Amino acid sequence: MQRFTSRSADVSSGGGSQRSAGCIHLRGLSKVYKAPAGDISVLKNIDLSIGCGEFAGIIGKSGSGKSTLVNMIAGIDRPTSGEVWVGDTPVHRLREAQMAAWRGANLGIVFQFFQLLPMLSVVENVMLPMDFCNVHAPKERRARAMQLLDLVEMAGHAGKLPAAISGGQQQRVAIARALANDPPVIIADEPTGNLDSKTAESVFVVFEKLLARGKTVIVVTHDGSLAARVRHTVLLADGRVVDECDQSQQTHRVLQQVSKG
Ligand SMILES: Nc1ncnc2c1ncn2[C@@H]1O[C@H](COP(=O)(O)OP(=O)(O)OP(=O)(O)O)[C@@H](O)[C@H]1O
Ligand SMILES: [Mg+2]
Repeated sequence: MQRFTSRSADVSSGGGSQRSAGCIHLRGLSKVYKAPAGDISVLKNIDLSIGCGEFAGIIGKSGSGKSTLVNMIAGIDRPTSGEVWVGDTPVHRLREAQMAAWRGANLGIVFQFFQLLPMLSVVENVMLPMDFCNVHAPKERRARAMQLLDLVEMAGHAGKLPAAISGGQQQRVAIARALANDPPVIIADEPTGNLDSKTAESVFVVFEKLLARGKTVIVVTHDGSLAARVRHTVLLADGRVVDECDQSQQTHRVLQQVSKG
């Protein structure tokens, strides 16, 4: 079996923080939730590296810990023990206020249910993270939002409210919004879980465009045909990484394990 070895995951290999900004390292990561019936150990001592500019897919059965894992990388949830590094930032050590500022500038997050603000137009939704982070000058924000909408082929719908466009179109707008502050890393948790296969395909095409622009893209997915297209597949089972590979043929083998399980 060919194990995955990340070509660009070593942040110590030089190139400066700009080049390594999209590299992710998890070290001894564990998460335990306290519950009245006792502790629930959801992530168990995970070591994982995702290289800069990689397309990584997190797969595994429902309840295996996929969302918990990506929420740790995004700083949405905190580890019980272990370390989360994104570039040279120790995410596990950031305080709440630092976390919000760091996340806004460094991560683009895409959810299953899009979560566009219904009262704002498509272009206003994409401008919103720029207003929060203040990275781009106010005068430039609308033009930048239009460029991002063009990238996801939604510029023609800029003035519409989210309710007036389809699910796949809303998801592409959500991806444009995730790119608002030009983050090095995009994290998407079941981004196509609510879409039919043709629409899901159009969303995956956008991820492939982002990879061509040097972004690191991490996708949680149940969809076998989409999972087979990522370069680095991580299989979770019961809170552990039980397999990891970097070839589509090997990915097929890993996916078979999920379907057998
Ligand atoms: N806040 C919480 N408190 C207690 N248990 C939790 C909490 N969040 C998640 N869990 C438990 O952790 C386990 C992993 O949940 P997680 O949402 O990460 O799974 P998942 O792989 O994303 O599943 P799915 O494919 O259904 O989205 C589940 O057993 C879940 O019930
Ligand atoms: Mg989940």
